[in-house]
Amino acid sequence: MLRNKINRKNTCAIIGIALGDEGKGRIVDNKIESYLKDPKISRVAVIRFQGGNNAGHTVEKEDLKLALHQVPSFVMHKKAFGIMDRGMVIHPEDLVTEIKYIENSVGKITDRLFLSDDAVLCTDLERAEEFLNSILTDNSKGSTGRGIGPSYAHHYDKTGLRIYDLLDNNWKKILGTKYDNYEKIFGAFNLKLSEVMIPDFNNTIKTHKSQNKKLGTKPVFLQNLDTARKYIIKSKIVTNTFKLHKKIYNQKSTAIIFEGAQAVGLDSWLGTRPDVTSSSTGLNGITPGTGFYKAEDIQEKIGILKLPYTSSVGSRTMPTHIDNKKNNKMTDDQKWADRIRTDANEYGTTTGRPRDINFIDLSFISYNITISGIDKIIATHLDICKDSDKIKICTSYKNRGVTESYQPGLRYQRGLVPVYKDLKGWDGKLCHNANKKSALPKKALKFINFIEEKLETPIVAITCGPLRTNYIEL
Ligand code: IMP
Repeated sequence: MLRNKINRKNTCAIIGIALGDEGKGRIVDNKIESYLKDPKISRVAVIRFQGGNNAGHTVEKEDLKLALHQVPSFVMHKKAFGIMDRGMVIHPEDLVTEIKYIENSVGKITDRLFLSDDAVLCTDLERAEEFLNSILTDNSKGSTGRGIGPSYAHHYDKTGLRIYDLLDNNWKKILGTKYDNYEKIFGAFNLKLSEVMIPDFNNTIKTHKSQNKKLGTKPVFLQNLDTARKYIIKSKIVTNTFKLHKKIYNQKSTAIIFEGAQAVGLDSWLGTRPDVTSSSTGLNGITPGTGFYKAEDIQEKIGILKLPYTSSVGSRTMPTHIDNKKNNKMTDDQKWADRIRTDANEYGTTTGRPRDINFIDLSFISYNITISGIDKIIATHLDICKDSDKIKICTSYKNRGVTESYQPGLRYQRGLVPVYKDLKGWDGKLCHNANKKSALPKKALKFINFIEEKLETPIVAITCGPLRTNYIEL
């Protein structure tokens, strides 16, 4: 299958640069819209190639707002379709819950949604395993609890299952044996598998708060899977995505978007180890995650960067970390972080968990851009700034007087003291109402120029609000 060495026209990758939650979903939505403005484009494919129900991508249109997890961010556009590819971890019951939740608002999507039969299968057993890991070792660095780590681990140790195993006629035996094996392992630690509490996505999505449930007995486990399996088979979403790629690659009227989940800073090899997710989150994940494309095929390699701060799910003790309230008296930095969290609604997409707010770390960001091959930036959240703000930007670190730069892994961050440059804030409300570059506050443009120069990467667009209209090409 020798292909043209030049990149495929009308393709882009949308990758998070820092620690996730940069607003990738809405950028995908914007990008679909701009592709469809081209009369030569009639359809847009949105491909998720890694991650699973640990992601939370929000898309908004008029008064409709949807949080997506496993389903790619194509759902607001009738001319777009979604592919959940072989590099993803798919939890069948959660997928059915999510499809029903989306269809409740935007109508049928299963006629333009495809799921690879090779995708990694995640069940409630991997979630129980994550719980077991958390009590067996304090090296378990926190996770969304959705079974992502163990599912990928079993891809590597070759014991893991795929969507095709769930569709196999023999599926009850395959998954029943898996339950039996887990029961034995839990029994060895004097734990009753059926009693283990695992995340309850169905109720979490309804209540917007983390909910848990008991895993249940083997018949309950198999019954839940059977219901999801029947729905998935009936909806005909499972397909051979490799063949689909071959077809759409040659369809010039189809634009292709690779939608990253999490971010380069959370990459299992290149991120802030051990506080990372378990997949390759950058362009490096596209080849194993599709089995078809490589980074060189992609025309635009876009990194999404949240400015003028960074947020993270869970506390990473990075040099630019701002401690949460520790004592009754808050520092100015803590007050600033609290204000940002409220104004930018920095709470988990589904669970409502408050996110940590950190200062921007250009050393970390610069590493992530370089290592992932991102060649342009879209900056989000420019409206979350006040005239009175002094924006602290970390440009490098000092360690006992010696200048250091970022190296992946949190252990290399110990003892580093950030060197900050202060820039003046601007009135975010002015950004909110702007519809072109010249309408942006001068101080915001100065800030953008500073970041571009330091990162040696162009910022090609910014967002200053959640709506499609709050998107300005620079
Ligand atoms: P896991 O992906 O569930 O294994 O979680 C590992 C770490 O990555 C945890 O600190 C999560 O909070 C974080 N994480 C996973 N997915 C996301 C995401 O989509 N955005 C931000 N953080 C995430």
